[in-house]
Amino acid sequence: MAYRDDYRRSIEEPAAFWAEQAAALDWFTPPQTVLGRDDNGVDRWFVDGELNTCHLALDHHVAQGRGGQVAVYYDSPVAGAKRAITYADLQREVARFAGALAALGVNKGDRVLIYMPMVPEAVVAMLACARLGAIHSVVFGGFAAHELAVRIDDAQPVVVVSASCGIEVDRVIPYKPLLDAAIDAAAHKPAHTVVLQRPQAMADLQAGRDFDWSALTRDAEPAPCTPVLATDPLYILYTSGTTGRPKGVVRDNGGHAVAMHYSMKAIYDMNPGEVFWAASDVGWVVGHSYIVYAPLIAGLSTVLYEGKPVRTPDAGAFWRVVSEYRVKALFAAPTAFRAIRKEDPEGRCLADYDLSCLKTLFMAGERLDPPTYHWARDLLGVPVVDHWWQTETGWAICGNPMGIEPMPTKAGSATVPAPGFDVRILDGRGESLGPGEQGSVAIKLPLPPGCLPTVWGNFPRFRDGYLSTYAGYYVSGDGGYRDEDGYVFIMGRTDDVINVAGHRLSTGEMEEVLAGHPAVAECAVIGVHCALKGQKPLGLILLRDDADIDPKQLRDELVARVRQEIGAVASFKEVLVVPRLPKTRSGKILRKVLRQIADGEDYAVPSTIDDPASLPELARLLAERAAG
Ligand code: COA
Ligand code: AMP
Repeated sequence: MAYRDDYRRSIEEPAAFWAEQAAALDWFTPPQTVLGRDDNGVDRWFVDGELNTCHLALDHHVAQGRGGQVAVYYDSPVAGAKRAITYADLQREVARFAGALAALGVNKGDRVLIYMPMVPEAVVAMLACARLGAIHSVVFGGFAAHELAVRIDDAQPVVVVSASCGIEVDRVIPYKPLLDAAIDAAAHKPAHTVVLQRPQAMADLQAGRDFDWSALTRDAEPAPCTPVLATDPLYILYTSGTTGRPKGVVRDNGGHAVAMHYSMKAIYDMNPGEVFWAASDVGWVVGHSYIVYAPLIAGLSTVLYEGKPVRTPDAGAFWRVVSEYRVKALFAAPTAFRAIRKEDPEGRCLADYDLSCLKTLFMAGERLDPPTYHWARDLLGVPVVDHWWQTETGWAICGNPMGIEPMPTKAGSATVPAPGFDVRILDGRGESLGPGEQGSVAIKLPLPPGCLPTVWGNFPRFRDGYLSTYAGYYVSGDGGYRDEDGYVFIMGRTDDVINVAGHRLSTGEMEEVLAGHPAVAECAVIGVHCALKGQKPLGLILLRDDADIDPKQLRDELVARVRQEIGAVASFKEVLVVPRLPKTRSGKILRKVLRQIADGEDYAVPSTIDDPASLPELARLLAERAAG
């Protein structure tokens, strides 16, 4: 009953429930008003509370005697490096780097863009911004210069913090040329960059604009924690929407800190001093929440792993890290487990390691498909928890509340709503649907602490994209249903966002890039099934009548364009030239039908189709493609 009681209170008495959770934190000024409203009419948490997120993550623990405990285990098979950094050491490094940023003119409320691989300095940079009350925006290393430029123009950072290179399995990726190209392309020019030089590829620095991380930090004056309001932004994290322009999800300081601290125990059952590992990247929301902020705010040790589940060096990489650092809970994407399974289906690599420390495996980023769920559970012999969340919410909307009351799991389900999330399944008119009926998954307002209050610099985009479909609800963009026990099943996006290897990508953005090719008259990008990555993008191309191009050359040029404009992370590798694209009479391409045909699923031809005769030919081409 513990879960049901907590859940009921969180929905019926949200202010009292979250006031209790907030009391566990070391506020500078504890909030008197737990739930208020901002000028946009959006519910805001702890409006008059003052705090500093870096203080909660570091200084508070050092003051409580936790300074000697490891805060971060950095493990990089690709760089051949390992480091155990204590809370006291991390506090010192962060305070100095914050001082260095302040000396470069970074003040409270200023933006700092962070474009870095999975190195401890990325964590230092994030926390240093939090310390100053500056707003960081981390950009994933797999994005290309153009994506970086778009984010620079949107966030308008004073400083960009980067590294000379990232390291992938088979190659070193120099970051500085990408950063220089992005700054050249952007209309907004950051005043300075700070570059961490890595020996694998040193960067050229431009005198006056670019600073070397080590030289700059060596003599910097440590900066104290600047008090901020709970509602002040901590960070902006860009995520793919349905258009070519990414959305800057804003996270506040107070609600976020409370949600991070609460969820670390309630969902993950983690206690201070224990070791948590989220095998993600600081460029994604999972990395923000569960590599950096939540584990540190909760006084845990967190693992920062710069490597892959396979090929660094083998399919036993995850088991080595779990056993070496005595990880209690591992959080990974199903795609990582599919990659391990592909290389080591019998789990032979496991025999080399002692995994008795591991109590739970958490999965998110995409739906945990039942075969992967069963394989992981049978192999590891621990509960495997699928939990569903989004960049927008910052923490799990649905999951198995392992620290409140573990529930029986059901393969294919993200279990039950987390306390604070009033999850509803709605039909097209906004009416609640019953058990087993599939609809739009929405959350009744107010959203709990930690969720976005707006899109950076564009409240109408937040209102129109999330709050306007059904009055009083946030729409998630996912479809799904609940069963008769209240378990939630998330079945996939209802918009043109696709999920590739746990990464959220916009097909609209890829279409914009493809449409720029001179031979392309029209195009559609759809996400087709991929046994490893869940989905992969497929570009359907209608050529211009006068186009005279060899199909292989076309494919190579289109692939290079997407790599150049969006980045390797898009995994765009496949192109199919088609004679027509099916559309509705109003001109909308029927992407859902195309995807269903490509995946060999049953499909219904919408009555609004303009050109039904286009479908059989397309079905034949897609079937030929599927047959290889
Ligand atoms: N910097 C530069 N390039 C990057 C990059 C980074 N940080 N991350 C990925 N890339 C590149 C890869 O090198 C690859 O390039 P390629 O097309 O030249 O091979 C491309 O982007 C696609 O990368 P990825 O999707 O990682 O595919 P992969 O084939 O290298 O690895 C998996 C496959 C399944 C092992 C990998 O996708 C994985 O570990 N997934 C887990 C995802 C995850 O943790 N998601 C977070 C949500 S919780
Ligand atoms: P992101 O914002 O990148 O974290 O992506 C969020 C999207 O990923 C969600 O809207 C879902 O479509 C998908 N997603 C994440 N976790 C799950 C899950 N456990 N089950 C199903 N879909 C998921």
